[in-house]
Amino acid sequence: MKILLTGGAGYIGSHTIIELDKAGYQVAVVDNLYNSNPKALERVSKIIGKEIPFYKVDIRDEEGLTKAFEAEKPEAVIHFAGLKAVGESVAKPLEYYHNNMTGTFILLDVMRKHGCKNIIFSSSATVYGDPAQIPITEACPKGHCTNPYGQTKSMLEEVLMDVQKADSEWNVVLLRYFNPIGAHQSGTIGENPNGIPNNLMPYITQVAVGKREELGVFGNDYDTHDGTGVRDYIHVCDLAAGHVCALKAIQRNCGLGIYNLGTGHGYSVLDVVNAFEKANGVPVKYSIKPRRPGDIATCYCNPAKAKEELGWEAQYGIEDMCRDSWNWQKNNPNGYDE
Ligand code: NAD
Ligand code: UD1
Repeated sequence: MKILLTGGAGYIGSHTIIELDKAGYQVAVVDNLYNSNPKALERVSKIIGKEIPFYKVDIRDEEGLTKAFEAEKPEAVIHFAGLKAVGESVAKPLEYYHNNMTGTFILLDVMRKHGCKNIIFSSSATVYGDPAQIPITEACPKGHCTNPYGQTKSMLEEVLMDVQKADSEWNVVLLRYFNPIGAHQSGTIGENPNGIPNNLMPYITQVAVGKREELGVFGNDYDTHDGTGVRDYIHVCDLAAGHVCALKAIQRNCGLGIYNLGTGHGYSVLDVVNAFEKANGVPVKYSIKPRRPGDIATCYCNPAKAKEELGWEAQYGIEDMCRDSWNWQKNNPNGYDE
C-alpha cells in the first residue's frame, strides 16, 4: 500500500517513514522544505536502505500536488504539512491560516479527485485548550485555543469530520499528539529547529551542547508538584508507530477515529531537566523566569482509547527520550547544517 506523506521531511514525518517502511508500506513525500532539510530524507533513505520518492511541492500548489498524485497513486495520506510555531502564528495569523487551512482544502480536493479517501491528520493536544479534566480523554470537550496555530488544528478537525460525515467512503483519523521529543536511535535524524527553540527539549539539548547559556524555566508557581508546567512527553518513534496503527484502522474502514497519542505520564519542566542530567551525565544550567503567556499548568492524557482500538501503546520512557534527544544533538550540534 502506497502512502503519501505531506510534510514528510519534517521532524515527525521523517521518523514516521522508518516505521511505515518497517511495517511494509511504500512511501512518497511531498514537502516544500519551508521548515525542513532535504538531508533528513537522505538520512532516512540510508536507514531504510531505499530511495524515497520526493516532490518539492507546496500543498497549496494544486498542479504540483496533482502531479505527485498522478505519479504515485497513493491509497492514503498522512498529513503532517503545516506551520507549527505558536508565537509566530500570533504575529503572522494570515500566513498560518493560509498555509494550514488553504493547504488542507487543496489537499482534500486533490485526494477526492483521485479517489484517495483515507487520511491521517496531525492534530495536537492544543485543541483541548486549558483542559476540562486531567488526564485528558478524547471525550474531554475541546477548549479555547489562544493562538492561530491551535485554531487551525481545531478547525481542520471540524472540516475533516464534516468531509467524513458527508461521504462515508472517507476514513479520517485525527491524531492528537502530546509533546513529541527524542530522536531515532541512530542519532542521524532529529528535531532541527530554526533559530531559538520554542519548545523545551530542543532548548535543553542546546544548553547541554553549549549553544545557549541557560534554560529559562517559565514559571515555578503553577499548581503542580514542583510549581513548573507538567506535560505528557512522548518519544517521536512511539508517535511514528502510532501512525502505522492508525493506517491499519483505516484498512479496516474505521470511518472517523480520534485518538490521543501520549504516554499518560506527566513530567514537570524540572523533572525533565533532572531526567536529562541523569540519563546523559550532562549538566543543564537553568533559572526561573516568568510564566510564558498562554501556557497551562498541566496537560497529560489517558491513552487507553488508542490502546483498545488501535492496539498502540508507548514503549519508551522519559530517560530513553532524554538519551535519544541528546544522542541526536551531540552528534549534530548544528542540526542538518554541517
Ligand atoms: P515540522 O515543521 O518539522 O514538519 C512539518 C513539515 O511540513 C516541514 O517539513 C515543512 O517544510 C512542511 N510544510 C509546511 N507547510 C507546507 C506546505 N504548505 N506545503 C508543503 N509542505 C509544508 O513539524 P513536525 O514537528 O514534524 O510536525 C508535523 C505536524 O504535526 C504539524 O502539522 C504539526 O503542527 C503537528 N504537531 C506537531 C507537534 C510537535 O510538537 N512537533 C505537536 C502537535 C502537532
Ligand atoms: C507547545 C505549544 C503547543 C504545541 C506544543 C507542541 C505553546 C504555548 N504551546 O506546547 O500549542 O501543540 O508545543 O509540542 O507554545 N518551557 C520552559 N522553558 C522553555 C520552553 C518551555 O520552561 O524554554 C516549559 C513550558 O512553559 C511548558 C513546558 O516547558 O511548561 C513544555 O513547553 P513546550 O515544549 O513549549 O510545549 P507546550 O507548551 O506543551
